Amino acid sequence: MNKILYISSEAFPLIKTGGLGDVAGSLPVALCKQSQDVRLLLPAYPEVLHNIAKSKIIATGAYYNLSARILETRLPGSNVIVWLVDCPAAFNRPGGPYTDHHGQPRHDNALRFAIFCHAAVDIALGRLALDWQPDVAHCNDWQSGLVPALLSLHAKRPSTIFTIHNLAYQGIFDRRTFIDLHLPEELWHIDGLEFYDQFSFIKGGLAYADKITTVSPRYAEEILRPEYGDGLDGLLNSRQQDLSGIMNGIDERQWNPGTDQHLKQKYNRRSLAKKSLNKSDLQQYFSLPVDDSIVMIGMISRLVEQKGLDIILESLATLVTYPVQLMILGTGETHYEIELSEWAQRYPEQFKVTIGYNESLAHKIEAGSDIYLMPSTFEPCGLNQLYSLCYGTLPVVTPVGGLADSVTDASEENIKNQTANGFILKERSAVALLAAIQHALALYQQPKIWRQLQVNAMSGDFSWKVSAERYIALYQQTLDERA
Ligand code: ADP
Ligand code: GLC
Repeated sequence: MNKILYISSEAFPLIKTGGLGDVAGSLPVALCKQSQDVRLLLPAYPEVLHNIAKSKIIATGAYYNLSARILETRLPGSNVIVWLVDCPAAFNRPGGPYTDHHGQPRHDNALRFAIFCHAAVDIALGRLALDWQPDVAHCNDWQSGLVPALLSLHAKRPSTIFTIHNLAYQGIFDRRTFIDLHLPEELWHIDGLEFYDQFSFIKGGLAYADKITTVSPRYAEEILRPEYGDGLDGLLNSRQQDLSGIMNGIDERQWNPGTDQHLKQKYNRRSLAKKSLNKSDLQQYFSLPVDDSIVMIGMISRLVEQKGLDIILESLATLVTYPVQLMILGTGETHYEIELSEWAQRYPEQFKVTIGYNESLAHKIEAGSDIYLMPSTFEPCGLNQLYSLCYGTLPVVTPVGGLADSVTDASEENIKNQTANGFILKERSAVALLAAIQHALALYQQPKIWRQLQVNAMSGDFSWKVSAERYIALYQQTLDERA
């Protein structure tokens, strides 16, 4: 049994803005199930404090003259012990984890997450008299990037793993910020935290962690190339020996159509006919024509460039001429919110857009749709296409990252050998997106084939079991190599 400090800036159900929340809320549970001794470390945002039943103070300290406490609680619905970095001046504010209530990045994010990282380092080095010290510090995304860098300065330290959930978010600040945070000057160089004269949090993970992982094997290959490497492909190539891709799993307690409490009608692959009750429920709820012969296309997403909104917007004028209903739930960049809402106002009989974050509606859309849209420009793993597969809702995706690793195109050959479970765009363009949707519409008219595709999709194993085993093997490998 190894002791793992799992460090994340979000974890469902305490706080979530995207897939990192899902992963950090479920991988630690899977690790515990496989006998790892895990502590999940999170910042104590107001939403987190609101969502926990009770907590106790287990340590106190101060960072940058701001007082802080470590609180202990449990991840709701599990036995996972959660430690919260409760520094009210940094974290107890209205708004999201990274943005203020106008959706703007907080001006002091570098300070906030430097505090989070220092607290993690103190725990990792046993400085808080907690009677528990990790063998491995498992960091996630830029918000915990300073942890491997700071730990690298100590001979006696835990092993460090850094998981890239999204290379596009790097935590870049200026040199002044680095100085003001009193970070060790020896970390400031081109192979360290410096990135073109700027200060990069993510490089702390990429340059100093013992091992680097990404959330799908395909993305681990892609980021070695300039198109996907976001300026870090050179560094990643130099660390290729230590880089691997481990596919995300899904939390089957939350995402299982057979037990999903959010659904009008639960179903599984043996009772697939019942799935359509969720579709009529959605159609009624949104005052759309209730008709099972109309194909319902769903999408739940952060509304950002990554998710392929450009080609979706480009396709809409043609898409609304097809016999389809389209439902998008999302929040993000204002121009996308406005443009999508305008289209929805123009075509109220076909197109519904809900701007905002709504967990329950997300489940209803996954279950009620026939097709799920995810034409991302890049996708480190993607969870929604995995949820869609489990819900028998066939994903239409670009052949990138975790989408390529999980979706098999409904080509004639793949239909025949019963591996097809979705639709892959030939290239990333509006024309290819419309062609893939037309292909899906044509197969929807052939119920036997459609049913088989759904069964193929629902038969896949997307549980955490295998991936958690891979992480455990990697933890052990790192420990052995450093012994
Ligand atoms: P990413 O992490 O890049 O946003 P993923 O597909 O990995 O993409 O995960 C997104 C997660 O966030 C899914 O659980 C999805 O259902 C959820 N999500 C995204 N936007 C919303 C929203 N507006 N309302 C509810 N859930 C959302
Ligand atoms: C990121 C990626 C997404 C991935 C998620 C969880 O937000 O954009 O592809 O599924 O992290 O790892």
